[in-house]
Amino acid sequence: MPTPHINAQIGDIAKVVLMPGDPKRSEWIAKNFLTNPRLVNDIRGNLAYTGTTDNGIELTVMSSGMGMPSIGIYSHELYTHYGVETIIRVGTCGSYLDSIRIRDLLVAEEAITDSSWAKMHGLPEDYVAKASEELVKITKDESNGEALIGQMISSDTFYDYDENIWKEYQAKGVMGVEMEAYALYCNAMQFKKKAIAICTVSDSFVYKDEISAEERMSSLTKMVKLAIKVAERVSE
Ligand code: HPA
Repeated sequence: MPTPHINAQIGDIAKVVLMPGDPKRSEWIAKNFLTNPRLVNDIRGNLAYTGTTDNGIELTVMSSGMGMPSIGIYSHELYTHYGVETIIRVGTCGSYLDSIRIRDLLVAEEAITDSSWAKMHGLPEDYVAKASEELVKITKDESNGEALIGQMISSDTFYDYDENIWKEYQAKGVMGVEMEAYALYCNAMQFKKKAIAICTVSDSFVYKDEISAEERMSSLTKMVKLAIKVAERVSE
């Protein structure tokens, strides 16, 4: 039986879901990294494909759309209706620190936010949402030191009116910014499930550079391969 936002049947979705923001990326991951991917959701263009990895693990890849309201809805329905145990967000982020360059991999062990998500869900406003410890451990292990692990901010805005606001977060050592991890982690905690966000740096607030749309796809390969290894380990 489907939900208001997902028309897959129960059983069409694997226990572990890889979740990029962009539906085209969902299709690209499914077609390039899964064997026999089949389309199991197309509502609102948020394509979901289920297939198997090279090591024979069943995996679903489904896009979340942009922002916390969107990933909040999809992760809620996947965790509570489809029996999903683990969601691994694979996305892009902006970086705040001098030591980070575009194409680097960042893992949000913790997420803070400027949104009202925590308050609206009865959590303290300064609540720090955490990735699943088990997934952080596995990701560290599988990344061979290639990923930087730390705190990120999930923001409600891509275009800030105050162009310098990011410097406040830089001063606190926040690695960078994306727009989804916080809500995903809160939902995982609420429903006693697992989540982690692995991001490729697509733009730097320090160096003011960014990767082009074409480069985005190729630089995502490293992140997707890492996420699939994590998915396989957590499925064991
Ligand atoms: N801000 C928010 N989200 C992002 C960014 C950014 O600069 N880059 C990629 N995702």
